[in-house]
Amino acid sequence: MSLMVASVLGYALGSVPFGLLLTRAFGAGDLRSIGSGNIGATNVLRTGRKGLAAATLLLDGGKGAAAVLIAGLLPAGQFADGAAGATWLALAGGAGAMVGHCFPVWLKFKGGKGVATMLGVALGLAWPVGLLCLLAWVGMFKLSRISSVGGMSAALAAPIGALALGHTAMVPVLAALAALVLYQHRENIARLRAGTEPKVGAKKG
Ligand code: G3P
Repeated sequence: MSLMVASVLGYALGSVPFGLLLTRAFGAGDLRSIGSGNIGATNVLRTGRKGLAAATLLLDGGKGAAAVLIAGLLPAGQFADGAAGATWLALAGGAGAMVGHCFPVWLKFKGGKGVATMLGVALGLAWPVGLLCLLAWVGMFKLSRISSVGGMSAALAAPIGALALGHTAMVPVLAALAALVLYQHRENIARLRAGTEPKVGAKKG
């Protein structure tokens, strides 16, 4: 029962489209008709509103971390091992948040790509894993100047980092979430292959 509550709670938190809400509230237009059409921080940046982009990054990440931390506090009585139970609940909360962000019922299931939320989920589950994801994001972004390259690298760093740091129970779920992030980037991947994916700061989205 708690696992279901954790997933639903995570979904509810994850489905709040902060980028869309903030840009609307502050008169920056409808993100879905700007740049890549994505509702994430990178596309908010394309509106020229750096503060709103930073707020979107923090809030989209924060909802992932909050889902994990709140879900991890739910009663774990159904599990023989309480500590392992708390991890499963936290993973269910985080997975729910990712599904909510990528497929929000409020936007007819057409949501974001999950990078910021995945960073928050990883930080909430085990901060060193989250730190590795952040390092992968920053490193790959600096090398490429392409947001999607940084984002996909960060997502892939989560299961790899969890494995390297001994959080083996988290690896399958984080691998599935990384696969979800890659799936959400399928158009970016096609543009990368075609050499048309824009660098951050370039005019065309
Ligand atoms: O976090 C999203 C990023 O990886 C790609 O965003 O707008 O360039 O498709 P975008």
